[in-house]
Amino acid sequence: MTEAPAFPLFPHRHLLGIKGLSPLDIEMLLDRADAAVAVSRQPLKKLATLRGRTQINLFYEASTRTQSSFELAGKRLGADVMNMSVASSSTKKGETLLDTAATLNAMRPDILVIRHSAAGAAALLAQKVGCSVVNAGDGAHEHPTQALLDALTIRRAKGRIAGLLVAICGDVLHSRVARSNIILLNALGARVRVVAPSTLMPTGLAQMGVEPFTVMEDGLKGADVVMMLRLQRERMAGSFVPSVREYFRFYGLDARKLKAAKEDALVMHPGPMNRGVEIASEVADGPQSVIQEQVEMGVAVRMAVMEALLDPRRNEGDGE
Ligand code: NCD
Repeated sequence: MTEAPAFPLFPHRHLLGIKGLSPLDIEMLLDRADAAVAVSRQPLKKLATLRGRTQINLFYEASTRTQSSFELAGKRLGADVMNMSVASSSTKKGETLLDTAATLNAMRPDILVIRHSAAGAAALLAQKVGCSVVNAGDGAHEHPTQALLDALTIRRAKGRIAGLLVAICGDVLHSRVARSNIILLNALGARVRVVAPSTLMPTGLAQMGVEPFTVMEDGLKGADVVMMLRLQRERMAGSFVPSVREYFRFYGLDARKLKAAKEDALVMHPGPMNRGVEIASEVADGPQSVIQEQVEMGVAVRMAVMEALLDPRRNEGDGE
């Protein structure tokens, strides 16, 4: 991390999504994150890389792990971190967001991390402020740092991404995690399957290079990685699943269904988990689970992203 100039200059000013990143950009962020893991494992975890820089976290949606992960990442890099608590009010979100953006911009932050329920919120903010913007999840659109931390977890456990068979299972329709992961895994040469009931299966998967399955055992067959998604009941307007119990029976990952995947398949979940809904405790806490590693990699990836965006070699106004 201290020898950051060894990494090539990241050619973007913001991180709004995985879409638009080249395989090289992604690999470079993962390499930087690998170095950041070592920092987090030292007893003294504070660097001076972002000393004097100001990071503002703007979370319009409830979040525990993502917000604390961004906060810790900033602090470990030596930045001054401020958490704006913006309770998600239901109306006039667009207007409120732009007003807030103007106010924050006047405080001259160097990096703004935003989570918002509207797709495109991060991109909109990026047009209105003078600093770097990181998308920490915008509606059902993208969640780039989650896909990066998932990729880092897989790469460290399996040694590679290319050629692996990854099954993404559950509420794909409402999932920004699934979207960002599909784009990233395709870019790095993995084979991606999606397993979901037809009501939670988005359209256009074929164009995304993804194979759809509606039966867990079929979709999991031969998989190297099983990525479970939370059933996002807060995003569901109608009834997408008949009952939680039935959902678990057909789509919940338990030891029996996991047997269809490779013996050494990784079990992943972005959190927060609904135990007994999309995943059984025996699997979530079992030997194949890398769910805690994902959390650890989350801090490292966010350090890598912020360090890459605020690279001192970048001239002001350059980049995307
Ligand atoms: C995910 C999110 O918010 O999109 N969680 C997270 O970032 N930790 C997934 C989810 O909410 O299910």
